[in-house]
Amino acid sequence: MGVILRSPFLFVLVLVFASALASSELLAEDALIVPGTTPLDQNGLPVQAHGGGVIRLNDTFFWYGESLKRPMLGDFLSEGVNLYSSTNLMTWTFEGLIFNGTEQMQDMPLGPPFRIERPKILYNAAYGQFVLLFHADTPTFSFPSVGVAVAADIRGPYEWVRAFKPDGLDSYDMGVFQEDDGTAFLVRSINNDFLGISQLTPNYTDTTGLVSVAPRGEGPSIFKPTAKDYYLIASHLTYWNPNPPMLFHASTSSLRAAAWHNLTVPARGEGANTTYNSQSSFVFPLVFADGTVLYIYMGDRWNFAGPGSVENATYVWLPLLPNEDGSGYTLQHADSWRPSDYRDQAWLPLVNDRAAHLANTGLSAAEQAWVDSLVASRKKEQTGNKTVTIAAST
Ligand SMILES: *[C@@H]1O[C@H](CO)[C@@H](O)[C@H](O)[C@H]1NC(C)=O
Ligand SMILES: *[C@@H]1O[C@H](CO)[C@@H](O)[C@H](O)[C@H]1NC(C)=O
Ligand SMILES: *[C@@H]1O[C@H](CO)[C@@H](O)[C@H](O)[C@H]1NC(C)=O
Ligand SMILES: *[C@@H]1O[C@H](CO)[C@@H](O)[C@H](O)[C@H]1NC(C)=O
Ligand SMILES: *[C@@H]1O[C@H](CO)[C@@H](O)[C@H](O)[C@H]1NC(C)=O
Ligand SMILES: *[C@@H]1O[C@H](CO)[C@@H](O)[C@H](O)[C@H]1NC(C)=O
Ligand SMILES: *[C@@H]1O[C@H](CO)[C@@H](O)[C@H](O)[C@H]1NC(C)=O
Repeated sequence: MGVILRSPFLFVLVLVFASALASSELLAEDALIVPGTTPLDQNGLPVQAHGGGVIRLNDTFFWYGESLKRPMLGDFLSEGVNLYSSTNLMTWTFEGLIFNGTEQMQDMPLGPPFRIERPKILYNAAYGQFVLLFHADTPTFSFPSVGVAVAADIRGPYEWVRAFKPDGLDSYDMGVFQEDDGTAFLVRSINNDFLGISQLTPNYTDTTGLVSVAPRGEGPSIFKPTAKDYYLIASHLTYWNPNPPMLFHASTSSLRAAAWHNLTVPARGEGANTTYNSQSSFVFPLVFADGTVLYIYMGDRWNFAGPGSVENATYVWLPLLPNEDGSGYTLQHADSWRPSDYRDQAWLPLVNDRAAHLANTGLSAAEQAWVDSLVASRKKEQTGNKTVTIAAST
């Protein structure tokens, strides 16, 4: 359960505001995003989609991720993968638990419960099917592998294929990347020693050998802003505690030949050394109506040392903006923001002045009140090992 449910007043406020927005046909680019909070679904329940990502199908955004993380066997485990849909990135409809590990992963060497982490969904146009891939494991990490399930509809039912060790190697945190031509790649932490990239077979259910390696990292996600530039964002390994983000760049026209270079830390100012108290999960390219793209960083604020711990994890979505000098990308922290604030970001200098940013957000009084109430509900949060008070945006 999310912390924001503690206040019945807030609960009503959020529902009223969300339904008012839904009826006014809000566009995704105008969605008001409040990092460090938890959106509620159509039933008023907090979105449980951790370590996941977003896939856009026509005009619908599907947000998938790990279901509620419950304290179990000394850690936090999810039963499966949840799916939510939205046309505006702000009001979310729960589509269901699309994959239930307890029910479907009976061939694992140990369990249930199982470890179901960092799920990703790809649409395989050639096969007309959706492919769900995730870090599948036993609770004790004794079978670090990739779980695969396939479905004809994104909402399922998903048919369990198997859990396998890609290229015969132990596989932990993972992400996927799909080229425009349909070829797809897996990036995963190999034995927690380094990140390895392999091309997937045409049906996306197997790998065809390691093609590129990058330094050690977790929460890997790849994005490709030009035909010759790949970026790989990842975190360090500090259990559920946050740490600074890492960004690697490969100047190449194919991931098969990617040689990764470490860039400067892609975050600045207060909170930079904890990635604003989050861990990377996915970079979602939001394409505006005019065809320009904004890269949205999706991270999890695991809340390990906060009230309710990982069960109360929230989401941190931030714009990932190109540096003015072409030296890479940098996360732009804001208490609240809209994608449209950054529509012409390619032409903007990197904004690191929060006051200047806030002066430009143009929130209505009702929106400001909504943001303030969400932020106030999360006022005392854990940043690294230190409890800090996060100032409200007023
Ligand atoms: C997207 O639109 C196309 C063309 O209208 C349609 O064939 C397809 O089924 C749609 N996909 C989804 C997932 O709704
Ligand atoms: C998942 O499957 C297990 C085993 O069949 C079942 O007990 C459990 O209720 C299911 N979970 C959900 C959320 O449906
Ligand atoms: C996927 O394709 C590979 C060969 O590329 C094949 O070995 C495998 O059986 C296929 N898997 C499924 C589930 O169709
Ligand atoms: C990349 O560089 C940053 C500092 O710019 C450093 O903190 C990080 O450890 C480096 N990562 C690797 C794998 O060298
Ligand atoms: C979330 O944190 C609140 C505040 O400490 C606590 O009351 C609640 O029980 C927590 N939720 C869970 C699921 O632990
Ligand atoms: C982050 O930086 C602040 C101040 O610069 C410091 O107090 C804090 O301990 C650092 N946290 C981590 C996790 O390094
Ligand atoms: C944070 O806490 C962990 C575990 O207690 C400890 O190992 C680590 O040194 C602490 N880090 C800082 C910056 O205090």
